[in-house]
Amino acid sequence: MYLIRNLPLQRKIVAVAMIVTAAALVLAGVTLILIDFNRARADLLEETNSAVRILAYNAAAAAAFKDAEDARAILDSLANEQSFAAACLYTDGLLAEYHGPEHEPCPPFLPENGFTNGYLIASSSIDQNGTQYGTVSVRATLAPMYAQIRARIAMVFGILLLAGVIAYALSSRLKELIAEPVLSLAATAGAITAKEDYSIRAIKHSNDEVGQLSESFNQMLSLIEKRNSELKQRTEELVLANRMKDEFLATLSHELRTPLNSMLGWIVLLREGRLTGAQVDKALASIDRNVRLQASVINDLLDVSRIISGKFTMESSVIELQPVMERSMEVVKPAAQARQTAIHLHAPHDAVLVSGDSFRLQQVFWNLLSNAVKFSPEKSVVEVSIEEVAGQAVVRVKDKGVGITAEFLPHVFDRFRQADSSSTREYGGLGLGLSIVRHIVEMHGGKVWAESDGIQRGSTFSLQLPLAEVRQDSEGPVGLRDTARR
Ligand SMILES: Nc1ncnc2c1ncn2[C@@H]1O[C@H](COP(=O)(O)OP(=O)(O)OP(=O)(O)O)[C@@H](O)[C@H]1O
Ligand SMILES: [Mg+2]
Repeated sequence: MYLIRNLPLQRKIVAVAMIVTAAALVLAGVTLILIDFNRARADLLEETNSAVRILAYNAAAAAAFKDAEDARAILDSLANEQSFAAACLYTDGLLAEYHGPEHEPCPPFLPENGFTNGYLIASSSIDQNGTQYGTVSVRATLAPMYAQIRARIAMVFGILLLAGVIAYALSSRLKELIAEPVLSLAATAGAITAKEDYSIRAIKHSNDEVGQLSESFNQMLSLIEKRNSELKQRTEELVLANRMKDEFLATLSHELRTPLNSMLGWIVLLREGRLTGAQVDKALASIDRNVRLQASVINDLLDVSRIISGKFTMESSVIELQPVMERSMEVVKPAAQARQTAIHLHAPHDAVLVSGDSFRLQQVFWNLLSNAVKFSPEKSVVEVSIEEVAGQAVVRVKDKGVGITAEFLPHVFDRFRQADSSSTREYGGLGLGLSIVRHIVEMHGGKVWAESDGIQRGSTFSLQLPLAEVRQDSEGPVGLRDTARR
């Protein structure tokens, strides 16, 4: 068993088929031979018994008269039968005998009946009219029976040999049917392991269990492939997130330190007390600007943290968009003036009303405007428009600045994403403004999108908000129904 277990599959199949065939044939052969042997013995016994009874009957007169010659003639009648070795007639002692040329003569006294030393001995008493005149004993040889058994054994061996050849041929064919699909499966598994390529598939050779195994194996491979690609994608995402986190930390430190350096510089100069009145005003204005800058960075961080934790809230009332936009423009004015950039507002005469939080919408407009100014060259123009289109308020901020590449455009509203995140970047900021903008606009039931024809071809940021439904009477809007989803 141990030897077979370690054989290659193909040889195992042949070996098992051969062993099973040989065992079945040997068993059948031995059984047949034993049956034959017993039948031959029984036949010989019956034949010998009837021969001895006939002799006893025929030799009755010779025995009664103790006529040895006559008795001898009767016993000689067995000479034609090959299986009888000897026949002996006993009266007081051995009266007459016949024995084959190569067989022993009769013993002087009546031998015992039964099978002994390759012979069968049977006897019958010679009775006539109630008187026993003697006994006839016949000795039959078992040699012809053994010869017949030997021929049978030879025949069984012949059949065994022939069956072995047939079993070998059949099992070799069977080997192709069973072993080859399994071996091909094993080869596929080996190739997958060696190349680490989970796109390789096993070939299904049949619809049996091996075929089902190939199918399950392929399904398992598909699953592994899917998991692998998910894992790869997840890993890439994690690596990117980690890199972005590192970049963000560097940017944040930079954004927090720059205003501090400037303030510290002015404070040192103020302490020395050697600044002129105009210089003191300049120092205070710079400190004021930097404090506000830092406060705005911190506010953005707090807003993002509130958005992430779901605690970002807003008020709701009907508001007019034009004044909100004008306030945002006021806030961005110093930066725009510093870059000699003009901001033009085109708004309809009638108030455009939306439902929402004026402070948050001002934050939205301020972010879009400050981006437009920041990413435009000096002496540029930023066009702002407010209009009503198909029941929606649409606000556009269009600049003629650096523009956005097609690759970066889909990520422009992602948190912490900046087109230039290098340490030597030209523009400040944390990459949070637009993510806050999108969150606020979506909280107002609106949407925001960006368009750009590419690098150095300017950008347009547009947003649309549902108009507030206002019931009018002669004195203006009195009843308001908020249609913005929250
Ligand atoms: N008007 C624009 N023109 C060109 N690129 C822009 C414009 N607005 C935004 N971007 C690109 O989108 C990125 C993300 O903008 P976002 O306002 O979220 O961040 P930021 O301005 O870099 O920093 P923050 O707003 O946090 O100070 C910018 O870094 C820039 O690459
Ligand atoms: Mg910004």
